[in-house]
Amino acid sequence: MTDKKRLFVKNWGCQMNVYDGGRMADVLAPLGYAPAEAPEGADMVILNTCHIREKATEKLFSELGRLRALKQERPGMVIAVAGCVAQAEGAEITARAPYVDMVFGPQSYHRLPEMVARATRAAGAVIETEFPAEEKFDHLPEGGAPQGVTGFLTVQEGCDKFCAFCVVPYTRGAEFSRPAGAILAEARRMAAQGTKELTLLGQNVNAWHGEGADGLAGLLRLLAEVPGIERLRYTTSHPRDMDEALIAAHRDIPQVMPFLHLPVQSGSDRILSTMNRGHTAEHYLRLVERLRRARPDLALSTDIIAGHPGEREEDHQATLALIREVGFAQAFSFKYSPRPGTPAAGMAGQVEEATKDRRLAEIQALLRDQQAAFNARMTGTICEVLWTGPGRHPGQMSGRTPWLQPVHALAPSHCVGRITPVRILAGHPNSLSGELAEQERTAA
Ligand code: 5AD
Ligand code: SF4
Repeated sequence: MTDKKRLFVKNWGCQMNVYDGGRMADVLAPLGYAPAEAPEGADMVILNTCHIREKATEKLFSELGRLRALKQERPGMVIAVAGCVAQAEGAEITARAPYVDMVFGPQSYHRLPEMVARATRAAGAVIETEFPAEEKFDHLPEGGAPQGVTGFLTVQEGCDKFCAFCVVPYTRGAEFSRPAGAILAEARRMAAQGTKELTLLGQNVNAWHGEGADGLAGLLRLLAEVPGIERLRYTTSHPRDMDEALIAAHRDIPQVMPFLHLPVQSGSDRILSTMNRGHTAEHYLRLVERLRRARPDLALSTDIIAGHPGEREEDHQATLALIREVGFAQAFSFKYSPRPGTPAAGMAGQVEEATKDRRLAEIQALLRDQQAAFNARMTGTICEVLWTGPGRHPGQMSGRTPWLQPVHALAPSHCVGRITPVRILAGHPNSLSGELAEQERTAA
């Protein structure tokens, strides 16, 4: 008889962390761990952390403080810290929170069963923050819990770009691309479990160069052949790796959605150079032009950093100008936050907090307007919606458009997993509302 144990995983940060958190649960399932909804009563709690921006460490320690109280009531509870803060600050974590049992980085979680055995035997924390030579992906179990109508699949991990502000090359390590065969096998399993929309994940996903396909464009072609997979997306891309074949894939592969997340970070050549991005604003704009020529309905999303070291008022204005010129459907913008160990953290010309706040507010106001305008323009159109689950109100279902906008409409619950035409009635700042188009209503 296996004794049932409860596992609670809390994920912070990017979609890759969400994927990793799911895989940690898969690795632990054979040991008898079943998912728990909350840390209360759990036998193991994993905090899967993110180190990309500030306050990560403070957030972690405040969460650990709460868990410590739970552990006092339940001394057998195992507390683990995973992810990028664990990778970067393993020693500080065990020093400040000696009740933590395990600390492991993003490249070590396939070793969880062994770590659990060691943690339950030994006094003191088990720390695994090496980048092991053997590949994590080869040691992860096949299968695992289904992800749902939309699912994520990590195809590439790590980064060799070394943007001056970014911790990723230090926490996730060097670029690694999984072979096409393993990716296809995982995609087929996901499709068999009901996934229709597949998002390929990688810190530099468009630099994918794994065995078995010619670059990401070749991989997308192979994935488009997987029965059941109706939509393909990939994130996050670097402008330097957006090659002709990948641009053409947006034109030629119907499953590749007309939406692309392409971080630009700044619109100033001087700052782009300080950031070590390896491209200019002009290069980015020409790239957008080529993409839109290949796929005229392509919508773009981006990441912007406000107040990078060295940023002057004219650089900030150049960023606003680039945003105006491109017209983004959606975007993420952040105040620059010095990350320990990165070149930018030690640069001269750090920008004052108040200036960063003001610039970020200006950037966000512009991006908010662009997003609202993009959503408003959908009003009156007929849109192909992939239904993902129940909506907020009774009788309502929610889904997403090819451009990743959430849609709410009255629809039967059996529509989940199907793609149907929807008449868009209104565009809101963050979502759309609609009704099933005529032929669908009669069919339903
Ligand atoms: N400060 C602010 N934003 C950052 N990002 C990465 N590092 C930092 C930092 N030090 C942002 C970038 C990146 C996104 C994932 O997070 O815009 O594209
Ligand atoms: Fe970080 Fe730059 Fe690599 Fe993106 S490309 S993960 S921003 S170093």
